Amino acid sequence: MIKNDLFLRALKGENVERPPVWMMRQAGRYLPDFMKLKDKYDFFTRCRTPELATEITVMPIHQVGTDAAILFSDILVVPQAMNIEVEMKPGLGPWLPHPVRSTGDVEKVIVPDVHETLGYVMEAVKMTKRELNDEVPLIGFAGSPWTILCYAVQGQGSKNFDIAKKFCFTNPQAAHTLLQKITDTTIAYLKAKVEAGVDAVQIFDSWGGMLSPEDYQEFSWKYIQQIIDALKGETPVIAFGKGCWFALDKMAASGASALGVDWTCSPQMARKLTGGNITLQGNFDPSRLYSPPSKIKEMVHHMINEFGKDKYVVNLGHGILPDIPVENAIAFVEAVKEYKVS
Ligand code: CP3
Repeated sequence: MIKNDLFLRALKGENVERPPVWMMRQAGRYLPDFMKLKDKYDFFTRCRTPELATEITVMPIHQVGTDAAILFSDILVVPQAMNIEVEMKPGLGPWLPHPVRSTGDVEKVIVPDVHETLGYVMEAVKMTKRELNDEVPLIGFAGSPWTILCYAVQGQGSKNFDIAKKFCFTNPQAAHTLLQKITDTTIAYLKAKVEAGVDAVQIFDSWGGMLSPEDYQEFSWKYIQQIIDALKGETPVIAFGKGCWFALDKMAASGASALGVDWTCSPQMARKLTGGNITLQGNFDPSRLYSPPSKIKEMVHHMINEFGKDKYVVNLGHGILPDIPVENAIAFVEAVKEYKVS
């Protein structure tokens, strides 16, 4: 039994004393102790060493006080396991020396045995679960197939993922073959994480908002739906699509336990689009954590009133920014803990 089970109760839609809170990308870069480790070990060494991944995962629980932990790792360990080389360049971010750009490239992409290639993640899950000692639940995650395709084809981060979109629209058959391989790998990967002990999973569709509503269904949602169908009987699934408010109605009928919302969609609009029954997660503008703590608290209380305290998980609308003062992240979390129904 998990001692603080507010997050799991909110995912089930149960009434809660106050909503739970965690922050996307909470395990990392704005924490001074993380920066010390970052100086010593490169990024994928931190991901591949269960002791380091565990240490980083529990940092925000002890130092910021969130109600759930998210495993320190990256969405790009999945393409690595599929035979697509991925490096993390300091200052630049992900860098793929041999992007997938043709039918022949797609043929070389494999659907691996995830226990073999990603066994280190399952070790990190088991070690983190022991370290957390059932204080709070542990979230496992994966990127959406579309978001992984964006990096696999573009070869690096981008403002518009133009090369990835060109690939999909000029060679849709190869794009769908690649998306299906990523989907099959992701389903096996998330199932293995659940077996290893995670209490819920989140799918990050960070670049879904790059697509038109129709293309979103064809190139992104169709595959996320397969993942939800495969996982929903085993664990609560949260689907987060950045910039995907236009798809919230379909997402609400998917069997997901909760949907992530970014800050460009108001709480009322998100409730209206989703029919009012599904748990929503979000949607504080990450840049609003630059505001002074008193303002952050006022805005968080307002946000909870707007979403309502039930069927709600307080979060940011995207990942925390690297230069946010830790005190401001703490103020965000404290505001939720101090919340009283008005
Ligand atoms: O949420 C967490 O705290 C758990 C850890 C986590 C990381 N990446 C660690 C990380 C999670 C959930 C991710 C997901 C991820 N990775 C996404 C989806 C969420 C989102 O923010 O949109 C994406 C698109 C990536 C790909 C990625 N990884 C990028 C673009 C970068 C570089 C820029 C950046 O965001 O910092 C990374 C590197 C990365 N992943 C870092 C961390 C802590 C920072 C680099 C480092 O520590 O050396």
